[in-house]
Amino acid sequence: AKVTALIPCAGQGKRMGGSISKQYMEIFGRPLLAYTLDKFQGHSMIDEIILIPRREEIAYCDKEVVKKYGFTKVAALVPGGEERQDSVWRGLYALGEDTGWVVIHDGVRPLVTGSVISAALETAFLKGAAVVGVPVKDTVKRVNSDLTVSETPPRESLWLVQTPQVFRKDIVLNAYQKASRLGWRGTDDASLVERMGVKVQMVRGEYDNIKVTTPEDLILVRETVRGVR
Ligand code: CTP
Ligand code: MG
Repeated sequence: AKVTALIPCAGQGKRMGGSISKQYMEIFGRPLLAYTLDKFQGHSMIDEIILIPRREEIAYCDKEVVKKYGFTKVAALVPGGEERQDSVWRGLYALGEDTGWVVIHDGVRPLVTGSVISAALETAFLKGAAVVGVPVKDTVKRVNSDLTVSETPPRESLWLVQTPQVFRKDIVLNAYQKASRLGWRGTDDASLVERMGVKVQMVRGEYDNIKVTTPEDLILVRETVRGVR
């Protein structure tokens, strides 16, 4: 069965600001999204990529990223939705019959490595559902709306979750179908799978696999890709 990567890149980058959406911002002359796509185009376990840009940016994305840099694994560009969950849902809808495994990865996480993608896939092959994350370094507190502290969960059990998140196709399809039917909203893919009662396995990733969100995140990206450009 095929391994298909879904890459949502339909956000507006409100926290980044600026006139051009962050996924298309240029880093050493190439759009940020191209650095992310490099990792999947170049990975032997990834058979195809479905890109999910904003509807009004599909033509731009196809011409200025996919065609321009020769990302031959991109099998389709499908229009994203209002929120990330809606975008991923549309990507899942576009999956072919022959896809058996789905790798979901944010278009704005260009620093993911091949070995993290491999580890996530291998764990998912064994367990059905795997997410990449890292243990928190700081102590985390739950805080009330009046900013009083309500509790301090033990740090040992807390992880920051990233992407890729990898699922057997039927598991993630069922979760998203149920979410759509019942109005579940989640900020990552695995949370919908968890709500179905399916066990998700955490895979230890890398701290550098940041989601480019605010301008200071670009410092690490530039620093990291400088050597491998
Ligand atoms: N995303 C998407 N569709 C949306 C919203 C987000 O495909 N409607 C994608 C983004 O393009 C990004 C990933 O989901 O690759 C993570 O989202 P986030 O970092 O929140 O990006 P933005 O929504 O663009 O940024 P912001 O929340 O600051 O506006
Ligand atoms: Mg967002």
